[in-house]
Amino acid sequence: MFVPLYDFERHVGVLEKEIVSSMHSVMERQDFIMGQEVKELEKQIAEYTGTSFAFGVSSGTDALLLSLMSLGINAGDEVITTPFSFFSTASVIARLGARPVFVDVERESLNLDTSDISAVINEKTKAIIPVHIYGRMAKLDSLINLKSDFDFSIIEDVAQALGAKDKNGMAGSVGDIGCFSFYPTKNLGAFGDAGMITTSSDELAKRITSLRIHGSSDGKIYESIGGNFRLDTLQAAVLLVKLKKIEEWNNERLKLAKNYNQFIEELGIQEFVRTPRVLEDGHVFHQYVVRVGYREELRNYLQSKNISTGIYYTEPLHLQPCFQYLDYKIGDFPECELACREVLSLPIFPGLKVEEQSFVVENVEQFYKNKK
Ligand SMILES: Cc1ncc(COP(=O)(O)O)c(C=O)c1O
Repeated sequence: MFVPLYDFERHVGVLEKEIVSSMHSVMERQDFIMGQEVKELEKQIAEYTGTSFAFGVSSGTDALLLSLMSLGINAGDEVITTPFSFFSTASVIARLGARPVFVDVERESLNLDTSDISAVINEKTKAIIPVHIYGRMAKLDSLINLKSDFDFSIIEDVAQALGAKDKNGMAGSVGDIGCFSFYPTKNLGAFGDAGMITTSSDELAKRITSLRIHGSSDGKIYESIGGNFRLDTLQAAVLLVKLKKIEEWNNERLKLAKNYNQFIEELGIQEFVRTPRVLEDGHVFHQYVVRVGYREELRNYLQSKNISTGIYYTEPLHLQPCFQYLDYKIGDFPECELACREVLSLPIFPGLKVEEQSFVVENVEQFYKNKK
């Protein structure tokens, strides 16, 4: 048996005809940039997330960059975020000359520990970027409360969490701006790079509209300096077909996560493999991540049994060489640093079979038995 970390064919395969026909219509119409499907996708994502506006953009990274630009963030400003995320969550801040300010994560959820924010927030703080890591929403209540004392915006990094929700609403609708990635392996993945921004602010919507196309609303007069952050119609055509399935796929991911937790419990190996909490709904399990010891050895062992695994992330952002100038050091964010040593992603994707899951867990058990 070979268990991949992700298998595109298994869930996209069933939609292939519809996707090809949709791409064909784009070819016929030739509205390749920001065409009909982009507008329709924006409408549907706004409806789905419960926001007033959605803007198709070129990637999740560009969604974050454009969001910061729309808030006018630049040199001298500070933006608070997590050191436990994909690189671009922090790099976009630095690209605008602003300073990334990191705050440690919670041990259990690995989301931003919002109780630590009051120690670093100040009048230079222009935005906070919580990341809904692995598909589980970060707690935003205390951030929202801080807004009465400080003037900052909340940009949700929803790259891994389309469809996640909590008592405050859908991911991407609770903060001022939501940034989505449709990188091919995301819960909703394009056939290339693509992303989306959501907001319910008229003012931000106006600025995003202009900055997305070089800083002009009519293509003649450039009121500011934006960029080319447009979304291709072909990507939107693919995404629109797949979007119909997002709830079904997210529910399947939740079920698969429950299965893993159950198998691990049944084999009594929780002592070696710490499982994630399965929230009844709301968590869309972009990744199913366990915390383990002997991680590299376990990975190699599983690889020898034809089981692929992943690690997100091996390096904390505050210790990346490019952020040396920020003067962080080892030990500054112990929960993040520990997570980087322990996290391991097991295969999870729509179409993964129960037999494959038990094969994975049995092999994990075998590894720790051999270790004793
Ligand atoms: C948390 C997070 N933020 C931002 C991004 C960037 O998205 P993209 O790869 O579409 O630029 C990703 C995707 O890898 C991500 O996982």
